[in-house]
Amino acid sequence: MRTIIYTGKGGVGKTSLAAATAMASAAKGHRTLVMSTDSAHSLGDSLQVPLSHDPVKVADGLWGQEIDVLVEMERHWSEISGYLETLLKSQGVEDITAKEVVVIPGMELITALLLLERYEREGKWDVAVVDTAPTADTLRLLSFPDAVQWYFDRFFKLEKRMMKVARPTVGRLMHTPLPSDRFFESLQELYLRFRRVREMLSDPDRCSVRLVLNPERMVITETQRAYTYLCLFGLPIEMLIVNRVFAEQEDGKFLQKVLEEQKANLGLVEEYFGGVPMRRSPRYPHEVLGLDRLRQLAKDVFGSEDPAKIFSRSRPVRFFSKGGKKYVQIELPFAGKETLEVFSRADTLFVKVGWYKRTLLLPYAYVGSRVGTANFSSGSLLIEFLPPAGGAKHGA
Ligand SMILES: Nc1ncnc2c1ncn2[C@@H]1O[C@H](COP(=O)(O)OP(=O)(O)OP(=O)(O)O)[C@@H](O)[C@H]1O
Ligand SMILES: [Mg+2]
Repeated sequence: MRTIIYTGKGGVGKTSLAAATAMASAAKGHRTLVMSTDSAHSLGDSLQVPLSHDPVKVADGLWGQEIDVLVEMERHWSEISGYLETLLKSQGVEDITAKEVVVIPGMELITALLLLERYEREGKWDVAVVDTAPTADTLRLLSFPDAVQWYFDRFFKLEKRMMKVARPTVGRLMHTPLPSDRFFESLQELYLRFRRVREMLSDPDRCSVRLVLNPERMVITETQRAYTYLCLFGLPIEMLIVNRVFAEQEDGKFLQKVLEEQKANLGLVEEYFGGVPMRRSPRYPHEVLGLDRLRQLAKDVFGSEDPAKIFSRSRPVRFFSKGGKKYVQIELPFAGKETLEVFSRADTLFVKVGWYKRTLLLPYAYVGSRVGTANFSSGSLLIEFLPPAGGAKHGA
């Protein structure tokens, strides 16, 4: 299996290029899998095909997959995540938050690396294209197998020995739960798999990294840094793709199209973030570098107002749990009461109050929960969530 990892600064076009590469690879007759490891999954949006945690067929010879850490944790690492969750709760971390914290940002890539290790063993795909989160996270995580090894080598044996002593003594006195033997077995298995991931990542015959960038100074600088780090960790950099290069001759129609698309998208911004005070700043014909241009940007956003003033004290959306139930409270001060429509699908909540429409991305702890009751009064919508039907934690 050949693994191609796309990485680069936020928004440069990683997802688009990963999807495009995968499609072209499948068209060449390779059994291809394209996998998103960015928790803000947009691969499905890019392909315009709804994806899930398990590979979904997108076209002939092409499958797509968006890593869902929660599913993966429940299937394979319940021992580890379960312990971490219990530990956090014992320290007074709230129920909902504990679940979010266990799924640390970046877990998607770690999960993906382990999946790649499995896919490679199984020989199911010829090519795996990986779409990652922006560079900083990705770099840290690509070096994760190294770090894991370092920690394990030093602490693992020591830690386990200490636990043997600690459980009958400390465990009884303190409210801190101690990990079980199975926890350590899971960790050890993880360790061995990471070693194989490490081997795969550094072998240019099996794995290559492609850096995506735009012809902008800030992007180029970050890419330079990424380049150095990738070299430092011995990851093979195979290609550089400069995306969003304007053609030499663009006409007025080009701009017209850009403006039309922008208008539609600004409408979406209203729908998603309605309650939050909003300002706009223009697209300049140059990058915003240096003090003069920064000053101009501030002026365009804030005018003569004090940028440090408190523009709003509202909490447009609040997530909380009470009596074992989860709630979302949404402030909709301008909404009428005539009709109220509320439903959730996977990780998204859809709300329609009269003419007012809102779409909200739910945190992990809510994914798969069903909407129970919804109450709208004095400009505030309170939604109660019920546990998933039939015990399944995911899906519609
Ligand atoms: N060459 C291009 N011309 C015009 N638009 C593009 C081009 N490449 C990408 N885009 C658009 O730019 C946006 C961001 O692209 P994309 O999602 O591929 O970037 P990304 O690097 O994956 O972003 P993120 O860091 O958020 O994951 C998308 O709307 C995409 O359709
Ligand atoms: Mg992306």
